[in-house]
Amino acid sequence: MRDWDGAEMLTQPRMAVENLRIGRNGSTLLDVPYLALGGPGPTLILGPNGAGKSLLLRCMHGLIQPDGGTVWQDGALLGEDHRARQAMVFQTPVLLRRSVAANLDFVLRRQGVRWGSRKARIAALLDEGGLAGKERQAARSLSGGEAQRLAILRALACNPEILFLDEPTSALDPAATQAVEALILRASARGTRIVMVTHDVGQARRLGHDIVLMQAGRVAEHSQAADFFAAPRTAAGRAYLSGALVI
Ligand SMILES: Nc1ncnc2c1ncn2[C@@H]1O[C@H](COP(=O)(O)OP(=O)(O)OP(=O)(O)O)[C@@H](O)[C@H]1O
Ligand SMILES: [Mg+2]
Repeated sequence: MRDWDGAEMLTQPRMAVENLRIGRNGSTLLDVPYLALGGPGPTLILGPNGAGKSLLLRCMHGLIQPDGGTVWQDGALLGEDHRARQAMVFQTPVLLRRSVAANLDFVLRRQGVRWGSRKARIAALLDEGGLAGKERQAARSLSGGEAQRLAILRALACNPEILFLDEPTSALDPAATQAVEALILRASARGTRIVMVTHDVGQARRLGHDIVLMQAGRVAEHSQAADFFAAPRTAAGRAYLSGALVI
């Protein structure tokens, strides 16, 4: 049984957006009248290329200012204090120009973890992510999949309240994908709210509590995962699952 099966839905949305709009050169990139991510388990965001998934994540992480609309966290307008308790793993990993260990040490130190404990924590994290033995390697010399795993470990090391993951396993082999999914489920069980974009329907089925399907900048469907995969409510949902939904 997954950790959130049978769990009570939170009454207050952890994340919500209202009247979110982004446009460029006369075309609508994002248009979301209302979306509430109330938990408790991972929200998986699906949709074709260019549907606005990354833009939505960036808005909820406060990285881009929409042309209109508001982002709420725990019933209050998204502010710096919320952002400090969020973490994001980007589609293309962003790493410090330092060693693998230093990338993790940086976030642990920022949280006030003492050096004695940091060393053990770094070793444990690298072990969990299959990067043991690479502590001294320059982070920028890691392979694409290794760099993505380090970015995920660094985000998890922050123990964030909310973790946004943008296609975190798209560059990973099956074994690494499985390891990362286990890390994500563990973080979710510890209480981190996961909001994750993927193109892997199997992964959305394995991890998702609820599914947000995006199409052309809009939310085409937001359903409980079990309902979505059993019988989507919308034509877009049915088209997506049959492989026919494009742009
Ligand atoms: N700064 C920008 N200026 C103009 N267009 C932009 C800008 N940023 C994003 N877009 C466009 O907005 C649309 C949505 O982009 P977004 O990155 O959110 O897509 P996505 O759903 O994450 O797609 P993918 O699955 O390919 O990652 C795309 O058509 C993209 O080209
Ligand atoms: Mg994207």
